[in-house]
Formats: sequence, structure tokens, C-alpha cells
Amino acid sequence: MPVPATIRTVAEVMSTPAVTARSSETIAEVSARMHEHSKGSAIVIDGERPIGILTERDLVRFNAAGASAADTKVSEWMTQPVDCAAPDLSVQEAFTAFAEHRYRHLPVVEDGKLVGVVSLRSLMEFAQVQPVVHPSTVEAPPGLEGVIVAETSVGDVRGLEGFYHYRQYNAVELAHKLRLEDVWFLLFEGHLPDRAEREAFAAEIAPLRRAPDAIVDLLPALAASSKTVMEAVRSAMSMVGAAEGYKPTLDIDHAERRRNALQMCAVMPTLIMAVHRLQSGLTPIEPRDDLGYGANYLWMLTGEDFDADRGRAVEQYQMTTIDHGFNASTFTARVICSSGADVAAAVVGGMGALSGPLHGGAPSRALDLLDAIGTVENARPYLVDAVTRGEKIMGFGHRVYKTDDPRSTFLRGVAERIQAEKIDFAKAVERTVVDVLAELKPGRDLYANVEFYAGVVMDHCGLPRELFTPTFASSRVIGWCANILEQAADNRIIRPSARYVGPPPPQPVPDLS
Ligand SMILES: CC(C)(COP(=O)(O)OP(=O)(O)OC[C@H]1O[C@@H](n2cnc3c(N)ncnc32)[C@H](O)[C@@H]1OP(=O)(O)O)[C@@H](O)C(=O)NCCC(=O)NCCS
Repeated sequence: MPVPATIRTVAEVMSTPAVTARSSETIAEVSARMHEHSKGSAIVIDGERPIGILTERDLVRFNAAGASAADTKVSEWMTQPVDCAAPDLSVQEAFTAFAEHRYRHLPVVEDGKLVGVVSLRSLMEFAQVQPVVHPSTVEAPPGLEGVIVAETSVGDVRGLEGFYHYRQYNAVELAHKLRLEDVWFLLFEGHLPDRAEREAFAAEIAPLRRAPDAIVDLLPALAASSKTVMEAVRSAMSMVGAAEGYKPTLDIDHAERRRNALQMCAVMPTLIMAVHRLQSGLTPIEPRDDLGYGANYLWMLTGEDFDADRGRAVEQYQMTTIDHGFNASTFTARVICSSGADVAAAVVGGMGALSGPLHGGAPSRALDLLDAIGTVENARPYLVDAVTRGEKIMGFGHRVYKTDDPRSTFLRGVAERIQAEKIDFAKAVERTVVDVLAELKPGRDLYANVEFYAGVVMDHCGLPRELFTPTFASSRVIGWCANILEQAADNRIIRPSARYVGPPPPQPVPDLS
């Protein structure tokens, strides 16, 4: 039987025909009829018109009086006059009538004739339970734009000023002046390291770069069964947590959470390069303790010496992408941590969110765009066509920045410094994209984001396109972990609400037999 999309009127829920009685009948006769039909009321009629109602409640009163059912007439105990409902009365209005008058049964009358009876019990079966709005409920905009969902000391993005910072320091200045490990220390410990702390931190990280043996054994199978590096590394990171026995963040202290987080950050670059090499038919290369973060990263790519400036350029890209407010992956990691799950679970969740093209999956697409445009002359017609067709230009636009993205400006400078092959062409395309978007999407303030020049820099440094998103993850994991530690230290489970917009519940469950 098809289930109606909505139950709206009394006609749809009434039972018909109703049990009826005449006022001259005895209580014994009518109560026997009600029992036979399992109904809680009999409608007393004159012809076809209801004149009263005899309900279970009346029978209880009658029994309490101790009179003889065989000798007592219905007319003496029925309730009259009786209110009636029209068949097209809405279920909602019927509910209101029942609630106001404390009815349990209501005759349904059409054109003066009794056509059925609606009971409170039948109404309850089809009740549309209305949501009760919590007094503190607030409506959030789509995409949670502009909504503050936590307090943090990790860092912040000031979109209108084109500025972002890690703790109290300008992130771009940090990328200019310091090493990645210094920023990593800053995010974990809350202050920049002195010389002794720098050395101690490097010594602490070095052994954690090595993948646990159990994972080394698993990597060939993970690499072979995954399409992308990101997929295999996501699984491998999860297995690191399992192999090392990570416990729920809820059950461990800060020191143990920090140890887990340090390992996640230290091991991810190793796993990325190992998976990449395995997928290329090559043997993974062990990390080197004597190399800094960016240099070690490139070392594990080829196992060959390389221009130090390239190592620094990759590291600077990684430094600029460590943290960036409550982006989708950081938020995801914090939500997972807020449930008390282990650090690996939160990191793997962050990786899933980052992998989407609207977040971290775009730098290879930005480079693909440059390839597709091909020449400076083709830029304008190509872009006008793409935007007119409703396509997003990859590497442009940002939820928070409504002016130049400082990471994009910085990386353009890095690309110029290392004389990246595509830099002149990329700059020409950037200017054209900004012009075309200003014409076709006026008022949206769309500029190059971090991903546009990231691709140009990484391409020049010898990183293949399939490593662009994993490289983003290799540094963002530090930001996720700083946020995870912060969340765990002062946790309340993140559990917002949604507005239900489907068919009104509860609909009758269909009989599928
Ligand atoms: C980053 C991004 C996801 C932000 O999304 P958002 O804050 O939800 O912004 P919206 O998608 O609502 O965009 C607002 C308007 O600008 C337009 N717009 C935003 N980015 C655009 C782009 N890259 N190309 C063309 N139009 C764009 C949208 O079409 C929309 O126009 P409309 O008002 O006519 O509908 C979005 O700009 C984007 O998809 N960029 C391309 C992917 C990318 O570079 N991702 C990496 C981010 S670091």
C-alpha cells in the first residue's frame, strides 16, 4: 500500500464506520458492541446525525455508580451535546481540539451524516511531532561562514587585511626568517625555541621520522592498492596509530597526546615519499637525521643531492601552509578529537577533508589550468569561456581573504627567487584571471590563493603533481596536531544541530510483505 507523503486531514486517520448506538439502548448492549469492535466509544445517533457519545470514560463513571447495565439506558450516561469534526479538518487542528477540550474521541460528520470517528490514539499514530526549538538555537549561515566555533591561541586569519599569524607571529615573516622545525615547536609549545630547545627538539623528532616496522611491511600493499599517494598515506597514518597503540585522547594525558602528535607529524613526510616511490616502482629512501625538514623531504624523493635553494623553497611553502584558521580540515580534526578519539583518527579525518579540490586538492589543478591555457594570448578567451560556463578557476578565490592572499604573494616571490620556469607565464595568467573575474563576478573580490603559486614552486623543485596535495598535508598536519592538543586540553564535544527539511515525521511505515 503506498504511503501518503503527508498525513494532513482527519479523513485520512479516522476509523470508519464508527460504532453507533441509539439513546434507548441499554448500557449492556452498547458496551458489548464496543468491546466486540475493540473501540473506546460509541456515537449515539438520531437517524444519521450524532446527538451524543458514550465513551470508556462514561463507562468507568457508570461502573463506579454501581447501577445495573442491563436496566440502564444510554441516554442517562452519554455525553451530550457532542462536538464533531469535518473530514477535511487538519490533523493539527484536531490535535488542538483534543488538547483544549481533553477529548479522546470525536465523531466525524459530513453533510450532517456520521462518517467515522477519530480517536486520540489514531491521531497519535500519525502525529507529526513538531520540533521544539532550544532557547539558545541560532541559525548559522551556509558553510558556517563567519561563525566563531571555538577559541584558539594557535593562530588566526584576517581576511580583510590579507594577514595571518601563527600564535603571535606573522606567518610570512616566520617563513622568511626561520626553519620549519622552529614553527613546529612554536605551535606545539607556545613559544619559539632557544638554541638548546632547538637541538633537543631536532633530536626528539629524528627517530620519529622512521616508519614503524609494521608499517614498512604494509606499505607496498597499500601503495599498490591505492590510486593516489594521498589514499595510501591516509591508510598508512591510520595504521601507525594502530601499530603504536594510540589511545583515545580522552584517556591519556597531555604528554602522551603530544608524543602521538609528534610522531604523526614526523612520520607523514616519510610515508608520502615511500608511497610515491613504491608507486613509481622504486625502493623507499630512509630519512636523514642530518637534514632539515624541507631538505630531508626532497632527499627522500630521489636520494640524490639537490640545489639547497630548492629544499628551502619547498620548506617555505610548507611553512606557509602549517596552519590557517578554522579551515575545513582543521575543523574536522578538532571535531574528531572532541569526541575523545585518538590522535591518528583526528589526523586521518583531516587528511580526508584536505583531499577535496575545494580545499587542498587544487594545486595540481592550478598547474593543469596553466597547461590548458597554453599561451598568454589564449588566457582571456579561455578564462571568459570557463567562467561563463560556471566553472571555478582553480587557485583563485577564498572564503576568508577578500584581498591578496599573503601566502600567494609570498610564494610568487619564492617562485621568482628560484626562477621557476612557469613564473612569467603564471604571473600573466594571474593578472588575466583577476581581471576576468572582476568583470564577470563583480564584487566577489577574487584573487589568487595559496594554491596557484604553490604548484609553480613545487613543479620547479621537482615534485610531481601527484605529490602536491600530500605535500600540503605534510605541513598542515602540524597545524592539525596543534589544534588537536588545544582541543583535548579543554574539551567539550562539538555537536551542532541541523534543520530537518524532509517529509513531516513520522510517516506510517509501509507493509513491505
Ligand atoms: C576557495 C573556495 C572554495 C571558497 O568558496 P566560498 O567561500 O564558498 O565561495 P563561493 O563558492 O560561494 O564563491 C562566491 C562567488 O564567487 C565565485 N567564485 C569563487 N571562487 C571562484 C573561482 N575560483 N572561479 C570563479 N568563480 C569563483 C562563485 O562562483 C560565487 O559566485 P556567485 O556569487 O555568482 O555564485 C572557492 O573560491 C573555490 O572553489 N575556488 C577554487 C578552488 C580552490 O582554489 N581551492 C583552494 C582553496 S585554498
